[in-house]
Amino acid sequence: MATHLLGRSSFGNPKNTGNLIHPDDALQLLNEWVPNERLRLHMKQVAAIMKAWAIEREDADETTALKWELAGLLHDADWEKYPDDHCRIIIEELERRNIDPEVIHCIASHGPGYFGVEPQNKMDKMIYAFDELSGFVHAAALIRPTRYEGLEVKSVLKRLKTPSFAAQVSRDDITDALSRIDTPPEELIQFIIDHQKDVS
Ligand SMILES: [Fe+2]
Repeated sequence: MATHLLGRSSFGNPKNTGNLIHPDDALQLLNEWVPNERLRLHMKQVAAIMKAWAIEREDADETTALKWELAGLLHDADWEKYPDDHCRIIIEELERRNIDPEVIHCIASHGPGYFGVEPQNKMDKMIYAFDELSGFVHAAALIRPTRYEGLEVKSVLKRLKTPSFAAQVSRDDITDALSRIDTPPEELIQFIIDHQKDVS
Protein backbone atom coordinates (compact mmCIF):
# COMPACT_ATOMS: atom_id res chain seq x y z
CA MET A 1 0.00 0.00 0.00
CA ALA A 2 1.26 3.46 -0.85
CA THR A 3 1.69 5.95 1.96
CA HIS A 4 -1.13 8.38 2.61
CA LEU A 5 0.33 10.68 5.21
CA LEU A 6 -2.41 12.48 7.07
CA GLY A 7 -0.16 15.37 8.03
CA ARG A 8 -1.65 15.89 11.46
CA SER A 9 -1.70 14.13 14.80
CA SER A 10 -4.83 15.49 16.41
CA PHE A 11 -8.25 14.16 15.45
CA GLY A 12 -11.80 14.98 16.39
CA ASN A 13 -12.87 17.27 19.19
CA PRO A 14 -12.40 16.43 22.90
CA LYS A 15 -15.88 17.82 23.59
CA ASN A 16 -17.26 14.86 21.60
CA THR A 17 -15.81 12.34 24.05
CA GLY A 18 -18.33 9.56 24.60
CA ASN A 19 -20.18 10.45 21.41
CA LEU A 20 -20.63 7.12 19.68
CA ILE A 21 -22.96 5.55 17.14
CA HIS A 22 -24.75 2.22 17.28
CA PRO A 23 -22.87 -0.60 15.51
CA ASP A 24 -25.90 -0.95 13.19
CA ASP A 25 -25.31 2.60 11.97
CA ALA A 26 -21.65 1.80 11.33
CA LEU A 27 -22.75 -1.29 9.40
CA GLN A 28 -25.11 0.84 7.36
CA LEU A 29 -22.21 3.14 6.46
CA LEU A 30 -20.22 0.07 5.42
CA ASN A 31 -23.04 -1.15 3.24
CA GLU A 32 -23.12 2.21 1.50
CA TRP A 33 -19.38 2.74 1.18
CA VAL A 34 -18.00 -0.78 0.75
CA PRO A 35 -19.49 -2.91 -2.04
CA ASN A 36 -16.74 -5.51 -1.62
CA GLU A 37 -18.15 -8.19 0.66
CA ARG A 38 -14.75 -9.55 1.61
CA LEU A 39 -13.57 -6.12 2.74
CA ARG A 40 -16.76 -5.69 4.77
CA LEU A 41 -16.15 -9.07 6.36
CA HIS A 42 -12.57 -8.02 7.22
CA MET A 43 -13.85 -5.00 9.12
CA LYS A 44 -16.52 -7.05 10.90
CA GLN A 45 -13.87 -9.56 11.92
CA VAL A 46 -11.52 -6.89 13.26
CA ALA A 47 -14.49 -5.32 15.10
CA ALA A 48 -15.41 -8.64 16.74
CA ILE A 49 -11.82 -9.20 17.86
CA MET A 50 -11.42 -5.64 19.14
CA LYS A 51 -14.67 -5.79 21.11
CA ALA A 52 -13.84 -9.19 22.60
CA TRP A 53 -10.33 -8.09 23.54
CA ALA A 54 -11.62 -4.93 25.24
CA ILE A 55 -14.12 -6.90 27.32
CA GLU A 56 -12.07 -10.01 28.06
CA ARG A 57 -8.57 -8.59 28.37
CA GLU A 58 -8.92 -4.90 29.21
CA ASP A 59 -11.91 -5.18 31.53
CA ALA A 60 -13.61 -2.49 29.45
CA ASP A 61 -17.02 -1.06 30.30
CA GLU A 62 -19.77 -1.00 27.67
CA THR A 63 -18.87 2.43 26.27
CA THR A 64 -15.18 1.61 25.98
CA ALA A 65 -15.90 -1.73 24.33
CA LEU A 66 -18.14 0.07 21.84
CA LYS A 67 -15.25 2.42 20.96
CA TRP A 68 -12.99 -0.55 20.22
CA GLU A 69 -15.73 -2.18 18.16
CA LEU A 70 -16.49 0.96 16.12
CA ALA A 71 -12.82 1.56 15.34
CA GLY A 72 -12.61 -1.99 14.01
CA LEU A 73 -15.82 -1.67 12.02
CA LEU A 74 -14.83 1.56 10.31
CA HIS A 75 -11.04 1.49 9.97
CA ASP A 76 -10.99 0.64 6.24
CA ALA A 77 -14.40 2.09 5.35
CA ASP A 78 -13.00 4.43 2.69
CA TRP A 79 -10.43 2.06 1.22
CA GLU A 80 -12.49 0.74 -1.67
CA LYS A 81 -14.02 3.99 -2.93
CA TYR A 82 -11.14 6.33 -2.15
CA PRO A 83 -7.93 4.29 -2.41
CA ASP A 84 -5.81 7.41 -2.91
CA ASP A 85 -7.27 9.11 0.14
CA HIS A 86 -7.59 6.05 2.36
CA CYS A 87 -8.12 6.99 5.98
CA ARG A 88 -8.50 10.73 5.37
CA ILE A 89 -12.05 10.40 4.02
CA ILE A 90 -13.45 8.25 6.82
CA ILE A 91 -11.69 10.40 9.42
CA GLU A 92 -13.29 13.56 8.02
CA GLU A 93 -16.67 11.83 7.88
CA LEU A 94 -16.42 10.83 11.56
CA GLU A 95 -15.27 14.32 12.51
CA ARG A 96 -18.30 15.72 10.68
CA ARG A 97 -20.49 13.33 12.68
CA ASN A 98 -18.87 14.56 15.93
CA ILE A 99 -17.64 11.10 16.87
CA ASP A 100 -15.48 10.47 19.95
CA PRO A 101 -11.89 11.57 19.19
CA GLU A 102 -10.39 8.33 20.53
CA VAL A 103 -12.21 6.30 17.89
CA ILE A 104 -10.96 8.64 15.17
CA HIS A 105 -7.38 8.60 16.47
CA CYS A 106 -7.48 4.82 16.59
CA ILE A 107 -8.48 4.64 12.93
CA ALA A 108 -5.89 7.28 11.99
CA SER A 109 -3.09 5.29 13.65
CA HIS A 110 -3.94 1.80 12.38
CA GLY A 111 -1.03 1.94 9.93
CA PRO A 112 1.66 4.29 11.26
CA GLY A 113 3.95 3.56 8.31
CA TYR A 114 1.24 4.69 5.88
CA PHE A 115 -0.63 7.44 7.67
CA GLY A 116 2.19 8.90 9.76
CA VAL A 117 0.22 8.74 13.02
CA GLU A 118 1.70 6.83 15.97
CA PRO A 119 -0.52 4.49 17.99
CA GLN A 120 -0.81 5.92 21.50
CA ASN A 121 -3.20 4.04 23.75
CA LYS A 122 -3.86 0.31 24.00
CA MET A 123 -6.81 0.48 21.58
CA ASP A 124 -4.55 2.08 18.92
CA LYS A 125 -1.84 -0.53 19.44
CA MET A 126 -4.22 -3.47 19.30
CA ILE A 127 -5.97 -2.44 16.08
CA TYR A 128 -2.56 -2.11 14.44
CA ALA A 129 -1.65 -5.66 15.48
CA PHE A 130 -5.08 -7.18 14.82
CA ASP A 131 -5.58 -5.56 11.42
CA GLU A 132 -2.79 -7.38 9.59
CA LEU A 133 -2.96 -10.56 11.66
CA SER A 134 -6.71 -10.95 11.24
CA GLY A 135 -6.45 -10.82 7.46
CA PHE A 136 -3.55 -13.23 7.56
CA VAL A 137 -5.38 -15.76 9.75
CA HIS A 138 -8.38 -15.52 7.44
CA ALA A 139 -6.20 -16.22 4.40
CA ALA A 140 -4.72 -19.22 6.22
CA ALA A 141 -8.24 -20.52 6.99
CA LEU A 142 -9.58 -20.03 3.46
CA ILE A 143 -7.07 -22.39 1.85
CA ARG A 144 -8.11 -25.25 4.15
CA PRO A 145 -11.01 -27.56 3.21
CA THR A 146 -12.38 -27.26 6.76
CA ARG A 147 -11.57 -23.53 7.00
CA TYR A 148 -11.34 -22.49 10.67
CA GLU A 149 -12.22 -25.96 11.93
CA GLY A 150 -8.97 -27.42 13.29
CA LEU A 151 -6.86 -24.43 12.25
CA GLU A 152 -3.83 -24.42 14.54
CA VAL A 153 -1.70 -21.51 15.69
CA LYS A 154 1.49 -23.28 14.71
CA SER A 155 0.41 -23.64 11.09
CA VAL A 156 -0.43 -19.91 10.95
CA LEU A 157 3.00 -19.12 12.38
CA LYS A 158 4.64 -21.37 9.81
CA ARG A 159 2.85 -19.57 7.00
CA LEU A 160 3.98 -16.23 8.42
CA LYS A 161 7.53 -17.41 7.86
CA THR A 162 6.67 -18.30 4.25
CA PRO A 163 7.03 -14.99 2.38
CA SER A 164 5.12 -16.20 -0.69
CA PHE A 165 1.97 -17.00 1.32
CA ALA A 166 -0.42 -14.00 1.45
CA ALA A 167 2.54 -11.96 0.25
CA GLN A 168 0.50 -8.73 0.40
CA VAL A 169 0.44 -8.95 4.20
CA SER A 170 3.43 -6.97 5.42
CA ARG A 171 5.56 -9.06 7.79
CA ASP A 172 7.42 -5.86 8.72
CA ASP A 173 4.15 -4.26 9.86
CA ILE A 174 3.31 -7.31 11.93
CA THR A 175 6.75 -7.30 13.56
CA ASP A 176 6.47 -3.57 14.26
CA ALA A 177 2.96 -3.90 15.68
CA LEU A 178 3.96 -6.82 17.91
CA SER A 179 6.97 -4.87 19.24
CA ARG A 180 4.56 -2.31 20.71
CA ILE A 181 2.55 -4.75 22.84
CA ASP A 182 3.32 -7.39 25.45
CA THR A 183 1.21 -10.24 24.11
CA PRO A 184 3.10 -12.99 22.27
CA PRO A 185 2.01 -13.74 18.69
CA GLU A 186 0.82 -17.26 19.60
CA GLU A 187 -1.70 -15.82 22.04
CA LEU A 188 -2.90 -13.15 19.62
CA ILE A 189 -3.38 -15.64 16.79
CA GLN A 190 -5.35 -18.02 19.01
CA PHE A 191 -7.51 -15.11 20.15
CA ILE A 192 -8.12 -14.12 16.54
CA ILE A 193 -9.05 -17.65 15.48
CA ASP A 194 -11.45 -18.00 18.40
CA HIS A 195 -13.21 -14.68 17.85
CA GLN A 196 -13.39 -14.26 14.11
CA LYS A 197 -14.22 -17.78 13.01
CA ASP A 198 -17.98 -17.32 13.29
CA VAL A 199 -18.19 -13.77 12.01
CA SER A 200 -20.14 -13.47 8.79
FE1 LIG B 1 -7.85 -3.42 7.84
